[in-house]
Amino acid sequence: MNFDEIIERNQTNSMKWDAVKTIYKSDDVWPMWVADMDFKAPQPVLDALHRVTEHGVFGYHLPPESLREAISEWMLKRFDWQVETKQITFTPGVVPAIHHLIQALTNEGDKIIIQPPVYYPFFSLVNVNKRELLENFLLEDSGSYQMDMDDLETHMKNGAKMLILCNPHNPSGRMWKQDELVELLELCKKYNVTLVSDEIHSDVILHGKHVPLASIAGAEDVQVATCMAPSKTFNLAALQLSYVISNDDELQRKLELQMKQTFSGIGSPFASAAAEAAYREGEPWLEDMLAYVQSNVDYVKQRLDEQMPKIRYMDPESTYLLWLDFRALNFEEKDLEQWLRQDARLALNDGHTFGKPGSGFARMNLGCPRSHVKEGLDRLQKAYEQLV
Ligand SMILES: Cc1ncc(COP(=O)(O)O)c(C=O)c1O
Repeated sequence: MNFDEIIERNQTNSMKWDAVKTIYKSDDVWPMWVADMDFKAPQPVLDALHRVTEHGVFGYHLPPESLREAISEWMLKRFDWQVETKQITFTPGVVPAIHHLIQALTNEGDKIIIQPPVYYPFFSLVNVNKRELLENFLLEDSGSYQMDMDDLETHMKNGAKMLILCNPHNPSGRMWKQDELVELLELCKKYNVTLVSDEIHSDVILHGKHVPLASIAGAEDVQVATCMAPSKTFNLAALQLSYVISNDDELQRKLELQMKQTFSGIGSPFASAAAEAAYREGEPWLEDMLAYVQSNVDYVKQRLDEQMPKIRYMDPESTYLLWLDFRALNFEEKDLEQWLRQDARLALNDGHTFGKPGSGFARMNLGCPRSHVKEGLDRLQKAYEQLV
């Protein structure tokens, strides 16, 4: 696979490319925002999709047992995690899955903890469902994030029912270590808090090994719903297939009832075929993609270090999303946004949308050909040089 290849996405109904001008209110902004990649999916996935098209009948679908088996084999191979196929519930996206989990497992007014700066839909999922949002802010330490366990315990003492964990964490690409997850599980056990573990980025690992929360000894004493998908891994977001792995029958029963009652998650033959092909035959593509993304990260780090030293970054352990720190440029929040759009002519995700600690940061997507990254960095450098 040639990851340098430029594939035209303008006027293909791509959110990243076709909504950018409207959302960023400019005709000349370079899209490095929405978390999808500009790469073609693995060839076995394309072949599987062709086979579905050739069949030509697109009636209501049932995800096959063979897909569950492919997922279970992937979990064992990639994470040494034994998952039984019956633990898997298909969902039409991780965000919808979290919505259904909130509905199924909590009541209006219940308290739900999230850990900002964090993937911004977590805020609205809690708010639109009329649950009370508790923010356990991450702490910055030596250019990385740490969990504030004392604050977390205070929220739990105050009656939190659920914690939505993001692991690996978006933004920053921080991978929570086993001892941190053990501590988290102990607190959840002590205060009877259900864990929704969003592990959508678990395959996009640049250094180290992902540890699924539910695979840790002691996790069986806590209700854990692990949300995963092939969407980030193989660039299949538009196919809208994800799944929840439940470690508790009661949790799964409630989730499935909620989904049944709202007629959600029937699935599509395209999504099932693509996901199964990806898990069974997409691993070489994934390894090549990860090496390519790492080389993009290295390229950006080098240019920032040498040419734009006041723009800092959190070195990502995972994800193709780089968390850039502009605080040394001393902008007010609105001025930073304006500078990025109008001077640097870049569409990045504004840091404050991830919550208060994201202020002064922006997220840059490096899941794209190197020439695209270079253009983005050239734009940034030009604006930077006029500033400092
Ligand atoms: C942490 C996290 N969860 C969920 C999603 C979106 O998942 P989906 O498209 O399956 O709803 C993203 C996408 O960027 C994400 O970063």
